[in-house]
Amino acid sequence: MKQFEPKTFEIPELKGISAKTIDEHLKLYAGYVKNANFVVEQLSNLHRETEKNAYLIGELFRRFSFEYNGMRNHEIYFSSLSGGPKPLPADSALARLIVETCNSFEIFMMGIKSIATTRGIGWAVMWYDKSENRLLASWVDEQHLGQLNGCDMIMAIDMWEHSYVADYQPSGKKQYVEDYLANVNWEVVAKRFEEAVK
Ligand SMILES: [Fe+2]
Repeated sequence: MKQFEPKTFEIPELKGISAKTIDEHLKLYAGYVKNANFVVEQLSNLHRETEKNAYLIGELFRRFSFEYNGMRNHEIYFSSLSGGPKPLPADSALARLIVETCNSFEIFMMGIKSIATTRGIGWAVMWYDKSENRLLASWVDEQHLGQLNGCDMIMAIDMWEHSYVADYQPSGKKQYVEDYLANVNWEVVAKRFEEAVK
């Protein structure tokens, strides 16, 4: 059966977020990849006797989006750090749409920071809604609750405590968000947006 393969990321020394935190976090990412593969494999086996295994099949399907989106969310998170911090090119299509949507990059960033401080574990996400040609933002609980149908994830900040508690303590959540955004390679994000627009 076809397997999901873990991706690799070139993450340099970061502002505020330690190499140890990134290493541990990458292990958690690998766990999502492994479990996404595990669920698919188990479902394949259980489907040999669907009636007998109906309850197990249902529960595995219920959990699949948690594992799958956990894998994909982290790929967006880590790849946005790859290559080190770089500003958003002013002439990029993403920069133009941000200004069109929010009037300025600064106002856009304020919105992202506001979402990121939502109470609970989950993700602050910026989306591209292809059908409307507009940017949207939302909070995603856990890994999979609150995804916007048909939208492409352009950027995502992991707001599970494992992302920041070792470096910032629970009270340092806001500083973690500031530092994550300062570490983002916006050229990668702009490129991801261009791919989504195609
Ligand atoms: Fe995470």
